[in-house]
Amino acid sequence: MSFVRNAWYVACWAHDLSTDPLAETILSKNIVLWRGEDGTPRAAENLCPHRFLPLSKGRVNGNNLQCGYHGLVFDGDGGCVEAPTQDTPPDDCRIRSYPVHENMGIVWIWMGDPALADTDDIYDLPQYHQDGWGVAYGDALDVEANYLLLCDNLCDPTHVNYVHPSTLGNPDEFNAPVTHEDMSWGVITERLTPNSLPTGFVKAFSGHDGRVDMWQRYLMYLPSVSIIDFGATAAGTGSWQEGGDARIQVFSCHFMTPITETRTIDRWLHVRNFRADDPSVGEGISEQFRIAFAEDKEILQAVQVEESRNDGRAKIGLDLDASAGLFRLKVNRMIRAEQLA
Ligand code: FES
Ligand SMILES: [Fe+2]
Repeated sequence: MSFVRNAWYVACWAHDLSTDPLAETILSKNIVLWRGEDGTPRAAENLCPHRFLPLSKGRVNGNNLQCGYHGLVFDGDGGCVEAPTQDTPPDDCRIRSYPVHENMGIVWIWMGDPALADTDDIYDLPQYHQDGWGVAYGDALDVEANYLLLCDNLCDPTHVNYVHPSTLGNPDEFNAPVTHEDMSWGVITERLTPNSLPTGFVKAFSGHDGRVDMWQRYLMYLPSVSIIDFGATAAGTGSWQEGGDARIQVFSCHFMTPITETRTIDRWLHVRNFRADDPSVGEGISEQFRIAFAEDKEILQAVQVEESRNDGRAKIGLDLDASAGLFRLKVNRMIRAEQLA
């Protein structure tokens, strides 16, 4: 089992959750989510303890969820509050509930020990909330691959030249050095390409056609949030920290939910510092990302098929694997600590 349980995961987009119960599989568990009439999201195991009908086949009743077979009513804590046809529900009539919280247009769910759930631990991008930054929502990319294969990819700026030549790849950076840093919350992988030709993306959105200084910083948060901070300035006019002429910056955010051991949903959005009020710019960026992420999906699904087929066969290592390897080590440590606890 490769899942960290004591963590916040994305359950769904906030705009997808209404007073119609929603079924989602998360860490191989069947979950039902619903919004009570008070607007607050709630989540529980998707199984009525009576005849095992999934509760997602039922309906929202006030802030509670009513089974669609014989009408048992459960509250957001998982307690049964009503059993039609008898005076009181049986004592053992309970379902497991899950802490949920809404932020950044996302409904987050805590899959582990509820006593450890702290909403302050939910990932938050400050720029998402700030003036001058434009937010655009992407898709829920459904990938038939283990989430750690996606994490490997998101610790690895070198793949872009080969997988995304038309959008994010840069002919000047095939051999640009990659560095990484061990953080308490995960790993940062960084690739700086000063004084180089602009990528297709930078040309399309920045107006730079001369040489640029570009940065890619891949922030991989435990266990499965990736923020790619990238951008460009006119060459020689300032570093990525200090600004620079015609500086464009994008945070490409990937929130990966492990569905099963071999399936992941990557919900993505992005936040940019240019033409923040023009939704067509956000959509234009999303179109480029859609091309790139479909390319990643094809590669990762093909790798998953071969991993399953070659179970137990060792892989060779390359220097470029260092940060992905470190990230996997940190995930394994978390899983082991949970198993020991
Ligand atoms: S199956 Fe849910 S109340 Fe009977
Ligand atoms: Fe990629």
